[in-house]
Amino acid sequence: MNEPESLQQAGQILDGNLFLIGFMGAGKSTVAQALSALYGMEVIEMDGEIERRAGRSISDIFSTLGEEAFRQMETELITTLEPGKRLVVSCGGGTAMREVNVQAMRRSGSIVWLTATPETILARVADSGSRPLLEGHKDLAYIQTMLRQRQPKYEAAADIAVATDGKDAAQICGDILAALKARRQGREQEG
Ligand code: S3P
Repeated sequence: MNEPESLQQAGQILDGNLFLIGFMGAGKSTVAQALSALYGMEVIEMDGEIERRAGRSISDIFSTLGEEAFRQMETELITTLEPGKRLVVSCGGGTAMREVNVQAMRRSGSIVWLTATPETILARVADSGSRPLLEGHKDLAYIQTMLRQRQPKYEAAADIAVATDGKDAAQICGDILAALKARRQGREQEG
């Protein structure tokens, strides 16, 4: 297990924006709040920000305006974030599916893919009523299929991947910092 870094060490590693991507229930919001509490990073919760701007809930946006309108709102938000502010951005589960979004993330920071098994995801989303894509589909087979479809895009977008199963938020933060540090050291060695 990786110990959380000191604030100073963390500051050197977390020098740009950090984008948390991954499937619904991967822990993006929880980990964003933990990174904020541990390292003083400002959090942008994409779904929350979209709800605030649209003046309605995500479920409402999906049912009244449709998924495509929601995807446009996501792209509008992610492509207009201020660069270099040391933000931790908790993305929606579908944000990394659009290449334009991935390019915007890549330009302004590091992309962290939080992974979880379908079983973990199912347990975490079981009581959620705010995920329109899973309404009526909260079963392992559906989640497995959707995860399999999305996996290549998450993988291609990610700078690092961190597994979240069976870990608490502080452990996951420690693992993220350790992986970012290892990645940076690897790149420095490459010259
Ligand atoms: C979505 C995930 C949701 C939200 C919307 C669509 C997706 O966010 O953006 O319901 O396409 O996976 P969370 O991953 O935070 O649940």
